[in-house]
Amino acid sequence: MDFYIDTANLDDIREIAHWGILKGATTNPTLLSRETGDYSKILQEICSLVGGPVSAEVLSEEAAGMVSEATQLAGLHENIVIKLPMSSEGLRAAGELKKRDIKTNVTLVFSANQALLAATAGATYVSPFVGRLDDIGHDSSVVLSDIVEIFSVNRISTKVIAASIRHPLHVTQAALLGCDIATIPPAVFKKMLKHPLTDIGIESFKRDWEKAQARAQEAVQN
Ligand code: G3P
Repeated sequence: MDFYIDTANLDDIREIAHWGILKGATTNPTLLSRETGDYSKILQEICSLVGGPVSAEVLSEEAAGMVSEATQLAGLHENIVIKLPMSSEGLRAAGELKKRDIKTNVTLVFSANQALLAATAGATYVSPFVGRLDDIGHDSSVVLSDIVEIFSVNRISTKVIAASIRHPLHVTQAALLGCDIATIPPAVFKKMLKHPLTDIGIESFKRDWEKAQARAQEAVQN
């Protein structure tokens, strides 16, 4: 499973990109609205930092408007992927953009049938929102596993991005279920990295090594 970062914050992207594990990024209007500066430049900078697909979302509600926004966004960088809403107009736009060889990510997917429709329309990626499903008391793991299974059984090449990830267990769940990608907020990446026993272990290795060095020094002096 590939890791994408789910943010438009350049400092956070730079920090996690240094770990050498990022394959792409996803943004949305909410994430971009938290940043200051020229959104086009921010998207281009994200592209150069992650060196892989970067989703940028359209705001139009009609297919023609989505396609025209998509054409502009796709012109910003070769790695831009157009995020389209899960709607009849979004499906139409996905089909039209496929004809133009522009990659798409159909977002706000909450059911297996929505994912199937998006894939059939020609989406390159679908983004089921696991956190928001769990928020309303649904079991996101059932939806994810249905989508992965349906795509596998039907030999559908559309990739599944587990999105709206809220905690490390969502990442483990996405990987266990065979999602192609998990798009993860910076704070969750940091939680994945840490384990109290790792910190204790590093500290005790260091302490033991320093003690041994001190003993060796003492032996030389005596
Ligand atoms: O990738 C989609 C994500 O940005 C939405 O996350 O936490 O707003 O549901 P959240």
